[in-house]
Amino acid sequence: MSAYKFIDHKFDVVVVGAGGSGLRAALGCSQAGLRTACVTKVFPTRSHTVAAQGGISASLGNMSQDDWRWHMYDTVKGSDWLGDQDAIEYLTRNAPAAVYELEHWGVPFSRTEEGKIYQRAFGGMTKNYGEAPIQRTCAAADRTGHAMLHTMYGQSLAHDTEFFIEYFALDLIMDDGVCRGVTAWKLDDGTLHRFQAQMVILATGGYGRSYFSATSAHTCTGDGNAMVLRAGLPLQDMEFVQFHPTGIYGAGCLITEGARGEGGYLTNSEGERFMERYAPSVKDLAPRDMVSRAMTIEIREGRGVGPNKDHIFLHLDHLDPKILAERLPGISETAKVFAGVDVTKAPIPVLPTVHYNMGGIPTNYHGEVVTKAGKNPDQVIPGLMAVGEAACVSVHGANRLGSNSLIDLVVFGRAAGLRCAEILTPGAKQPELTEAHTAAHIARFDAFRNASGSIPTAALRLEMQKAMQEDAAVFRTGESLQSGVARLAAVYAKKGDLQVSDRGLVWNTDLMETLEFDNLVCQAVVTVNGALNRTESRGAHAREDCPDRDDKKWMKHTLAWFDQATGKVKIDYRPVHDYTMSEDIAYIPPKARVY
Ligand code: FUM
Repeated sequence: MSAYKFIDHKFDVVVVGAGGSGLRAALGCSQAGLRTACVTKVFPTRSHTVAAQGGISASLGNMSQDDWRWHMYDTVKGSDWLGDQDAIEYLTRNAPAAVYELEHWGVPFSRTEEGKIYQRAFGGMTKNYGEAPIQRTCAAADRTGHAMLHTMYGQSLAHDTEFFIEYFALDLIMDDGVCRGVTAWKLDDGTLHRFQAQMVILATGGYGRSYFSATSAHTCTGDGNAMVLRAGLPLQDMEFVQFHPTGIYGAGCLITEGARGEGGYLTNSEGERFMERYAPSVKDLAPRDMVSRAMTIEIREGRGVGPNKDHIFLHLDHLDPKILAERLPGISETAKVFAGVDVTKAPIPVLPTVHYNMGGIPTNYHGEVVTKAGKNPDQVIPGLMAVGEAACVSVHGANRLGSNSLIDLVVFGRAAGLRCAEILTPGAKQPELTEAHTAAHIARFDAFRNASGSIPTAALRLEMQKAMQEDAAVFRTGESLQSGVARLAAVYAKKGDLQVSDRGLVWNTDLMETLEFDNLVCQAVVTVNGALNRTESRGAHAREDCPDRDDKKWMKHTLAWFDQATGKVKIDYRPVHDYTMSEDIAYIPPKARVY
């Protein structure tokens, strides 16, 4: 009999995470009359969506003619043909309605002279199937995520979503292949909780903090992804990690791509606007993978700026200060605080910085988690959904376009709510849970709580972050990835020698960071193994030893299972969906990705 006691809760739906996708899913389920809990480790409006700056893409056509088919084309091309085209169709077709819904709920979008939602240019967004850049990204100045999060939190409360705030989710309650709920640790009083539900929706975000320098908050530890691995399920396409071109040099804070959308540009030590050489038609508005590679090449070839020639300049100093104050107030302040730069007078020192995980929990476009079972690559896991950055739908494929994340959150958050409304019955009876369902959760929790080895968690976490930063960077080689695999295996092996000094249960940040580290390290191992295995270059995965995209061999999704006991990764594949959802839109065949 365990010394730990659970406090039990029963809901129709439990959403884990209260960022943009979690709130949108919770709201949809609550609206459908399903009793819905939202369990979150941070206060909802502090979820990482709050940091999203530049905007949310949708072909509203407020600045010039636009078409969701152009948006679909850009997203497929941006994904380097690894995106599933049925899901991309779903995303781009439903995007305008999702943005108008936000507007009607009260998101304070910036406005055009005529009072329409203001839209700015973003990388890879074009008109007429690649002809020229288009203004498609709807913005609330440069605080779009902040505006969305506050609005959706208010709406979820109005629709009676029940919030469990500062509850740290531990593990999925699995019962013969079916998900029945989730366990959680309440941080402020140390109690343990069992949330039983007909459906668990994971909206736990990315795992950017497996790297040393990231625009992601310190809370971005991919907790849901790790729970999925511990449940014996695979993650998909984890080798694709996005570097945002403009993190502030040294600090890593995000300077929105909207800065280039408003006319900003990058220069090297010779004062050259080098993107003109790399992407002659769209220049600084090329997709992020290309801009990050171009910046890295400039630095490597000795044309970086600064005393060590190790970064690049982003210029906004030629723009009208009134425009900067109105459209980019947030990053103007961030540049002042973190780089000591007045953006009206001097360029901002920037460097490609880890920003987003294209990979995650494989789902279909309803948000249902899928796995490969025998010959079926789309086997649904009953009782389990995933949305947002935690999920790999896959609409972003090998490279996400800027502003396609916020739209992904609300379109697929909404889709998950619609699916729950369709397949669940409010108040339906649920099977009884036994101690056996959660024995492993308790064993893991207790082992870390009493860990009495010799390595502080912060030290081992740093070792992991340095290995990821150095060996799984913008450019990779077989050699660097071999080194990453070995270094991460060594980190994983040292997990048994961790030292947690606080044995308490109330606000034990030492224990919480250790559980988060445990979540991060298995994802880091999966990432480097997937990257070593994929012997081609596609989107954000740039292998210098295999520089070409190989559609014949590699136009397929990586699935990776992780063995907790041995730290070993098993790899298999799912086919890319080379078909669309509806008959009125054709599959877009692969071609060279030239901008
Ligand atoms: O640059 C940005 O504002 C980030 C947007 C995004 O990642 O979609």
